[in-house]
Amino acid sequence: MAKKNSTANKLDWEYAPSLEGTDHIQLKEKYDLYIGGKFVKPSSGKYFATTNPATGEKLADVAYGDESDVDKAVKAARKAYTEVWSKLSGKERGKYIYRIARIMQERARELAVIETLDAGKVIRESRDVDVPLACNHFFYYAGWADKLEYAFPNRKIESLGVAGQIIPWNFPILMAAWKIAPALAAGNTVVLKPAETTPLTALKLAEIFHDAGLPPGVVNIVTGYGDTGAAIVNHADVDKIAFTGSTGVGKIIQKAIAGTNKKATLELGGKSANIIMDDAPIDQAVEGIINGIFFNQGHVCCAGSRLFVQENVADEVIKKLKRRMDTLIVGNPLDKNTDVGAINSKEQLATIQKYIKLGISEGATMHQSRAKIPANGYYCAPTIFTDVAQSSTIVQEEIFGPVLTIQTFRTVDEVIQKANNTPFGLAAGVWSDKGSRVFNLTSKLKAGVVWANTYNKFDPTSPFGGYKESGYGREGGLHGLGAYVKLK
Ligand code: NAI
Ligand code: MG
Repeated sequence: MAKKNSTANKLDWEYAPSLEGTDHIQLKEKYDLYIGGKFVKPSSGKYFATTNPATGEKLADVAYGDESDVDKAVKAARKAYTEVWSKLSGKERGKYIYRIARIMQERARELAVIETLDAGKVIRESRDVDVPLACNHFFYYAGWADKLEYAFPNRKIESLGVAGQIIPWNFPILMAAWKIAPALAAGNTVVLKPAETTPLTALKLAEIFHDAGLPPGVVNIVTGYGDTGAAIVNHADVDKIAFTGSTGVGKIIQKAIAGTNKKATLELGGKSANIIMDDAPIDQAVEGIINGIFFNQGHVCCAGSRLFVQENVADEVIKKLKRRMDTLIVGNPLDKNTDVGAINSKEQLATIQKYIKLGISEGATMHQSRAKIPANGYYCAPTIFTDVAQSSTIVQEEIFGPVLTIQTFRTVDEVIQKANNTPFGLAAGVWSDKGSRVFNLTSKLKAGVVWANTYNKFDPTSPFGGYKESGYGREGGLHGLGAYVKLK
């Protein structure tokens, strides 16, 4: 398995490659829009390429939907809503959703490989996290479909109608599941737009909906760029917008729907604090820091991108963190040994590099992992910055890459003040051996999700969402179901 480099120190291990196979996956050369239960050509006749960011190679051409295509999709969704889906019993809706979940499970390996190819995320994560969690969201919400009166006791429950859903590229299939499963369980129909760099698993889901016999028009997938998303937001016959993405676009959406009857949930950016107290189990905490910021190349809205370490353990934590960073394997996302895969796009890599330069020019001290970086494709070495100030740009702004800032603190009050001093409020992590310290911190941190002695753990039953500029509304759990019903 492993061979030791003769001259170098203990950290220089080279692993023989262990590539996940791609023979079993089927990708078409060209994908059309999925509207009204059929794959249909875009009215403009335009297509765009989706590539593999690990190699730069094109994977497929994908339809570029415009306003008229969105209109067709919304009409198909409305028709399916009034004629079929809103009339079905919860039990019948549940059966379809269970069927979707089971077919996804059967095709899990294929979905994971396609996700890795299209997004650049490591196969270990798409196989063990993204795809199983996506299946579990369908299973979980299938269970609620016939139990809505128990979910919201003593209330009259109505579905909303047509939900327009716009998702980003960091967790393509998982975000599709987060949004589609509760919408369907509650009796709504859907028009979903995947991100332009990662449309393939959503299109695979369209095939699965088809195979599950889901009535035509219940879910429609319209691929395209930001203007395609805007056409969904601005369509007069859409009842609800669910968006995950940048705070900038979230603000545009908020303005666009102001004064309309559209409901919205917005899940936006983050700059989450990961806090290490001096009594924390240090080795576990170091793993938690690594997982918090380098998981999925830091393309995680709730990434633990601001580290706060209590001053008396800071030297030890930083030393161990650097050592661990050097052992991370950066490279081919299809290799099962890889820890850090490819950056999702050339544009995102440029954004990350811009912030790294800015950090250096603002006087922060940078350390990068010694990991070898592949010559082709879009990659970024795991990076940490010390000697940063609360006002540093790299401490204030979301970078959305494998870049961590490190600050120290002396007292609990000081770290609470520093951690909350951000326009965002999505998540936080707390590491301490002492329950009372954990509870004190978790109750004072202004963040939608707070993890204690762990990080980046997700479950379909627990709600997720932010405060302040991280957005509003919750997804997941009962709260996530509540976002798709009208209660009277
Ligand atoms: P983005 O917000 O532009 O893209 C997200 C989705 O919104 C995509 O499907 C896109 O096509 C769509 N979209 C773009 N403009 C739209 C508009 N005017 N109306 C409706 N839909 C629109 O994010 P982008 O440009 O890919 O990434 C930029 C930054 O956003 C990242 O560097 C990161 O900081 C943040 N981001 C946060 C995410 C999160 O999970 N909270 C996910 C992706 C990006
Ligand atoms: Mg791609």
